[in-house]
Amino acid sequence: MKRETILVIGANGQIGTALLPRLQEAFGFNHVIAADLRHPKQEQGRFELLDATKIDELATLVQRNRVTQIYHLAAVLSAKGETDPLWAWNLNMQTLLNVLEVSRQQGVKKLFAPSSIAVFGEQAPKLETPQTTALDPATVYGISKVAAENWSLYYHKRYGLDIRSLRYPGVISYQSMPGGGTTDYAVAIFHEAVQGNSYDCFLAADTLLPMIYMDDALRATLELMEAPADQISVRTSYNLAGMSFTPAELTASIQTYFPHFITNYKPDFRQGIADSWPKTIDDSVARQDWGWKPAYNLPRMTEEMISQLSAIYQPLVQTH
Ligand code: SER
Repeated sequence: MKRETILVIGANGQIGTALLPRLQEAFGFNHVIAADLRHPKQEQGRFELLDATKIDELATLVQRNRVTQIYHLAAVLSAKGETDPLWAWNLNMQTLLNVLEVSRQQGVKKLFAPSSIAVFGEQAPKLETPQTTALDPATVYGISKVAAENWSLYYHKRYGLDIRSLRYPGVISYQSMPGGGTTDYAVAIFHEAVQGNSYDCFLAADTLLPMIYMDDALRATLELMEAPADQISVRTSYNLAGMSFTPAELTASIQTYFPHFITNYKPDFRQGIADSWPKTIDDSVARQDWGWKPAYNLPRMTEEMISQLSAIYQPLVQTH
């Protein structure tokens, strides 16, 4: 088997942090290069500093290491993007175009560049949002992801680039604190609950949103990347579903472990973003094309988050 060399851009982020060990396991520890703007708190293997907005830096890194696959995970998320729209647009688009162009020039064999439920806006059906529908996003993050999906399709059709993508729902994980997303309440809430605190939620109690547990998100990513190219009918980005729930339902699920846990609802500007997104997702095309099936529902995800975060916080709590 020919050895692959995998480059993960934005490796310190929520998905990168959890994906790295999986890729190291699959391709060999020394065959995965993590890259980000800053050194991670804990290095997990090969690491390179990279500003992916600079095409020359990226080109040199790919060439020097003979990179064969790229996971492009660097992006400014929805809520953070709204604080500085042009900065978010420039960063999201420049990094994507650089990755596409360097991949084309250097013959990178496979590329993963995720999209998001944020591509959907007012005109898309909110329930069982279909794979193909109107895309009129309300955020600059969503606009950049719609553009990214179309650029990906363009590079695939025009240059034959094997680029694959998923429209991630809100990703829930214990490995790192996510930054700047509208769905991130569903991560922050667990950190407060296991420390015995209450949680001030920036969304209303009945805000139904599509979510996925990290384990499912990683498995979907790796299964999509492993699928034979002729099974990939979607070169913009696949709809992907895990579960959907509201803050009130999540709170009730956490209360089965911590009966006194309380959520206070203080919706802010992020409510408008959440209201523009789907409530549930139809991912039947992913299921048909490459056999996608989620494994985590709300109770199973809650159990796993609480057990993992309790193990992380327990020693800290005891030393105080
Ligand atoms: N989790 C992302 C966000 O909230 C959606 O892709 O911005």
